[in-house]
Amino acid sequence: MKPITPKYPKLIHGGDYNPEQWLRYPEILKKDIELMKEAHMNSVSVGIFSWAHLEPQEGVYDFTWLEEVINNLYDNGIYTVLATPSGAKPLWMSEKYEEIRRVSKDDIRDKSGVRHNHCYTSPYYREKVKEINTKLAEKFANHPGVILWHLSNEYGGECYCPLCIAEFRKWLEKKYKTIDELNHAWWTDFWSHTYSSFEQINPPFSNGEKSVHALNLDWKRFVTYQTVDFMKAEIEAVRAVNPDIPVTTNLMGFYNGLDYNKFQDIDVVSWDNYPRWHHINNINVAQVSGCTHDLMRGIKGENFLLMENTPSAVNWTPVSKLKNDGMHLGSAMQAISHGSNSIQYFQFRKSRGSFEKFHGAVVDHVGTSDTRVFKEVTEVGKALESLTDKLYNTSVKSQVAVIYDWENRWAVEDAAGPRKGTGANFLGINTDGVKYVDHVLAHHKSFWSKGINVDVIDMDKDISSYKVVVAPMLYMFRGGIQDKMREFVKNGGTLITTVNSGIVNDTDLCFLGGWPGEMMDVFGIWNESIDGLWDGDTNKLIMSENAPFKGEYELSELCAILHAKEAEVLATYGDNFYKDSPVLTVNKYGEGKAYYIGAKTEQQFLDDFYAMVVAETKVETSIDATLPYGVTAHTRSGEETYIFLENYNDVETEVIFNKEYTHIASGMMLKSIKLKAYEVAVLSDLTKN
Ligand code: GLA
Ligand code: ZN
Repeated sequence: MKPITPKYPKLIHGGDYNPEQWLRYPEILKKDIELMKEAHMNSVSVGIFSWAHLEPQEGVYDFTWLEEVINNLYDNGIYTVLATPSGAKPLWMSEKYEEIRRVSKDDIRDKSGVRHNHCYTSPYYREKVKEINTKLAEKFANHPGVILWHLSNEYGGECYCPLCIAEFRKWLEKKYKTIDELNHAWWTDFWSHTYSSFEQINPPFSNGEKSVHALNLDWKRFVTYQTVDFMKAEIEAVRAVNPDIPVTTNLMGFYNGLDYNKFQDIDVVSWDNYPRWHHINNINVAQVSGCTHDLMRGIKGENFLLMENTPSAVNWTPVSKLKNDGMHLGSAMQAISHGSNSIQYFQFRKSRGSFEKFHGAVVDHVGTSDTRVFKEVTEVGKALESLTDKLYNTSVKSQVAVIYDWENRWAVEDAAGPRKGTGANFLGINTDGVKYVDHVLAHHKSFWSKGINVDVIDMDKDISSYKVVVAPMLYMFRGGIQDKMREFVKNGGTLITTVNSGIVNDTDLCFLGGWPGEMMDVFGIWNESIDGLWDGDTNKLIMSENAPFKGEYELSELCAILHAKEAEVLATYGDNFYKDSPVLTVNKYGEGKAYYIGAKTEQQFLDDFYAMVVAETKVETSIDATLPYGVTAHTRSGEETYIFLENYNDVETEVIFNKEYTHIASGMMLKSIKLKAYEVAVLSDLTKN
């Protein structure tokens, strides 16, 4: 396995560091180093928003302060993750060159200010970014302390300027070749929307064309394409100087604006995780956070870095809640258990003014190590140090994959019918409409509570090596996923899909001839139509006599009207005009099985259903124990297998094992363990090697 940070192959403990805000305070910069060492930090991310200090005037560069900082850090054993500064443009630049300021969906050009709001097409901005990246690389890429490039910061957003529109049209022309091809793919004969040339096409402005769903979809694809293209230019500039320093950029989990699976050009995935701990139910928060780690790991199928998390609270939610005792270490260990090779913070030191002065930080305005948060951070540093040799070369291996696909999400959430939503919340998750992400999370949760590793991957990935593949609400079939699923089942795999799957192709044209499109024989069913249920309306799933488990479960939101052809019916509806018709089916196809779950079910159904699937397919659980509610387990393996036993209950919880495990921290062999609230214990299983 290749190390993800070759120059410093250790678990990283660090965070965003903004010395440029403190150049007037040399005693603070000196103290920072002391405090980093005291917190057992071994790396910091520098330069993320430093452009105004690196190039204070057009063409006038000043890297002396940065050089001093990087040298100082290195002399004290602290490595640098060096950022390219494109995340925020200096004022002199945005004032002089209007084209670098974005145009909004309402066709209004930004004024100068804020961040993350450059036009990713602007030739001037691209040129300037190339120039500064090259200069930074020339100066620092061969510095022994610089271990990783942090490209920009949280790429995101869209630009509707004329430059972007022109690129969009070119992109479309390359994709469709002729306007007739596009008109067919987009079904533009509807409402007389036929285009006669590519020049007529505009992105979905708020007062323009929004009803051609394939246009909306292609626009989103283009935004990803153009962002990645911008990123590639950034990568090229730094790699040209020293190709041996890996590059990353910090992603944002389920953020809906970009298809992160297209970010394959980065060497290492890193991401920023801000779970809403202590809001309503920590167990749900933990599972969403765990699923998001799995999603981020799935992009490259490799270990990743947790580039940002807060050591205490954020400042951008309605309430800034501090973490309870033990939560910081627990959530850090959760990231490690899912394949992170780092715990990094936003931010090392709280800024004194402006927007983030009340955002959690390792060092507070008091400026000392004598704070609760600092002590908790130090504890994480020590824990990582003690585990680094064991864990660095281990990775997460999964026998189960859950498919989450951004393009599918864009299409299914944009569709008018069978339930229409209003948009995503602050975590990038929709809470009304068809709730695609909710479906993905719910299926993932059944494995999570059983302590089973899961990969969350998109439709482009290879699925042949898994025992179980779950494709919740796979509305769009694209990129030959039908063939992959068919082969998978034929060769003995177990495939599960659900209501609202196999409805459209990659340009959102409905499959003719029945749903799930081109897969009816694999599932042995025909899905004739889908009933949308109002919030609060329910139906029932009644398990059949012949089913391997029994019971009645509540259904809501979406109910598919199914005809079982070759499939065996395992459950039927309890209500409405489709009472007694199939809602859960299984079909034997080749050596494998394909299950169809025809409705949105309550969680208990999924938990019981997957208990059956796990038993049937002999999917491995991480630990041989019955896990109490709120406790889960994950493994990382290399030469040895390490088990992370995680308690997200707010109280101490005991877990009894069916065999003995070695407790890494104490070296003791245990048959049970009492985990404190939010505690994660690392165990090893000698019999696995
Ligand atoms: C994001 C950004 C950081 C900071 C944090 C605050 O993740 O990348 O610069 O603003 O949010 O939570
Ligand atoms: Zn633009």
